[in-house]
Amino acid sequence: MPKTPISKTAPAWWPQEEREICTLADMPPDAARGFTLYGDDDEKLELIIWRRGDALTGFVNQCPHMGLPLETFPDRFLSADGDALICSAHGARFHFDGACFDGPCRGQNLRRVALSARAGHIYLSTEQP
Ligand code: FES
Repeated sequence: MPKTPISKTAPAWWPQEEREICTLADMPPDAARGFTLYGDDDEKLELIIWRRGDALTGFVNQCPHMGLPLETFPDRFLSADGDALICSAHGARFHFDGACFDGPCRGQNLRRVALSARAGHIYLSTEQP
């Protein structure tokens, strides 16, 4: 399925209340997965959560190069060595903090989201990046 470019501006919809994204059990150490949150009127927000050991980071799933989602296949975000997120469109590579260090958007950043983890669940803050 061809990718559809999405706006490079702020996401059109953001939850008005803290929202659960997944459980910690859904995120094994050293894994990156994609999640979609839905609003009441079919709005949606695509996210990537990346876990390294006990550390978690999350991003809007939108490459700063052309605004495309990073993955071609579900949950295929990481490089073979697990050290970078890779955009499948043009090969941009991103550090754990979301900074692009290789590829056409080098020096730009994924839009990092505020997460909290408690009682075995991972939540998205209402604070927009
Ligand atoms: S859209 Fe991600 S590298 Fe081009």
